[in-house]
Amino acid sequence: MIQLNSISKSFNKKPVLSNLSLRVERNEAVVVCGPGGSGKTVLLKICHRLIKPETGTVLIDDKNILEMTESELMETRLNIGMLFQNYALFDSMTVGQNVGFFLANHSTLSPQEIEETVKENLKMVRLEGTFDLMPSELSGGMQKRVGIARALIHRPRIMLYDSPTDGLDPVTADTIVDNIIAINQQLGITSLIISNDMNTVFRLGQRIAFLYDGRIHAIGSPEEISQSQDPYVYQFIRGLGEGPLYNANGL
Ligand SMILES: Nc1ncnc2c1ncn2[C@@H]1O[C@H](COP(=O)(O)OP(=O)(O)OP(=O)(O)O)[C@@H](O)[C@H]1O
Ligand SMILES: [Mg+2]
Repeated sequence: MIQLNSISKSFNKKPVLSNLSLRVERNEAVVVCGPGGSGKTVLLKICHRLIKPETGTVLIDDKNILEMTESELMETRLNIGMLFQNYALFDSMTVGQNVGFFLANHSTLSPQEIEETVKENLKMVRLEGTFDLMPSELSGGMQKRVGIARALIHRPRIMLYDSPTDGLDPVTADTIVDNIIAINQQLGITSLIISNDMNTVFRLGQRIAFLYDGRIHAIGSPEEISQSQDPYVYQFIRGLGEGPLYNANGL
């Protein structure tokens, strides 16, 4: 369970998140969409305490991570996996080393056991045979899947996915969505997903949230969001040029 209560965060006095609240139930998948620069990545990083908000609480399984000591936080982070928007793979390491990085540094497994576990994880994202390749030899979609395999290596109960399919071709994007759905079911994962790829938003989200003006402007089931008459939601999910978002942004 992830629960954000009254989160506010600004950078250089510019508010990004203002009094934002959001709850993701156990085993639920919630997708957050919203305009570029609206604070989606900041929101996700706050859930991992990579960014600390000025106000509010962040509960992971009922414990406020903002009040934790570093060692308590490390323990909680063992339950969380994160896919970064920019992949964040290590360029100078092979795919196998990237995926096994956590185990090599934080477990007592032998190199053979690590290799086995890494290959099992690569199989989950359908990347068998890439163990010895360098990230630069892979396409963008494959790199995203390596990022997912790496985030899953310690079998987290919570996954934070930042834009897992945005910018990819529709077929690759769909494959990644299939991977995420299968993994969520197989491992019983609670997930918070950031995406502006509407196919992904509607396929992955059991609930869909629209982030705008620093808070969750609307949240509901895929049916509720697709039928929403809220002018901001209506414009955004259809990608219309005209509407309140157009005017408000002055684009
Ligand atoms: N470390 C930082 N220092 C200063 N400003 C930051 C920092 N991180 C984010 N911001 C600002 O916060 C705002 C929200 O950024 P964020 O990356 O969360 O947007 P986003 O919704 O993820 O956008 P996109 O859809 O392009 O990924 C932006 O104005 C950004 O410049
Ligand atoms: Mg972002």
